[in-house]
Amino acid sequence: MTKRILVTQPVPEAAERVLEGFEVSWNRGPRLEPPELLARATGRHGILCLLTDGIGPAILSLPGLEAVSTVSVGYDHIDLTAAVEHGIVVTHTPDVLTETTADFAWALLMAVARRVVEGDSYVRRGRFQGWDPLLLLGSDVHGKCLGIVGMGRIGRAMARRAQGFDMRVAYYDPLLKYPDAAAVTLDELLAQADFVTLHVPLSESTHHLIGWAELARMKPTAYLVNTSRGPVVDEAALVQALSSGTIAGAGLDVFEREPRLEAGLAGLENVVLAPHIASASRETRERMAVMAAQDLKAVLEGRTPSHPVPLTGHRRAK
Ligand code: DGY
Repeated sequence: MTKRILVTQPVPEAAERVLEGFEVSWNRGPRLEPPELLARATGRHGILCLLTDGIGPAILSLPGLEAVSTVSVGYDHIDLTAAVEHGIVVTHTPDVLTETTADFAWALLMAVARRVVEGDSYVRRGRFQGWDPLLLLGSDVHGKCLGIVGMGRIGRAMARRAQGFDMRVAYYDPLLKYPDAAAVTLDELLAQADFVTLHVPLSESTHHLIGWAELARMKPTAYLVNTSRGPVVDEAALVQALSSGTIAGAGLDVFEREPRLEAGLAGLENVVLAPHIASASRETRERMAVMAAQDLKAVLEGRTPSHPVPLTGHRRAK
């Protein structure tokens, strides 16, 4: 029997070749609203989805469904408890986006510290009158302290980049150890770091990990960079911290209620905003799509996928 797949949203073309031989329903239009997604997923053996598709119990309990493969490293949009309950294999795309994401986190860090976006807009608006020793002064990056929250793959890639800038690196991670940097508590990290960069997955324990109390612990000269997930930061508290000078600035690729922004955020000059594009290089997005498609194909052909989501802790309900 030819197995049936739903591809929920447009993905790089290379994934299409991987899925040749399956009966694929491609959604080439905009994101499907939940009822339509459920309807289109019905009768499918596999789903290739994106992080903007909510994959909950209604989909995961569909008869015949075997696997859900997401074109993302994060999988907080998939209900893993329901996946375990219904024996669905879930796969994701780690590793391939590590360096690209760290490049972009670094770009945000540099952009906000050195006021690159403000400078661009200043020149474009015709305000540049010649060199001025006091114009758009920012903060040095080299020689400062980088505080990394979450020392997984991307956190480590940030630590490696920091070496080239002669930075001291401190990190907070309750589980992972990294020998080449100082392990500290979150409070210590917030108090010491000139740049705090977030690299944790979204879970119950990381939701609002950075709230008002944490922002208030940071130096008034420090910057926050978030390329992980928006809800890791309490965005209302961040707007307050940025507008009151509690911290110096922020570089954000992710938002608490994407694509909406917290009121007041877009009006601030000390924040650089990006539309969740940290992994968006042509090469990486293609690798992510191919990896997700290959893993979906593997499961549907009865093979073990290379990048299953770890389901430890997500127990089958009694
Ligand atoms: C992911 O993969 O989870 C990122 O947020 C997008 O690349």
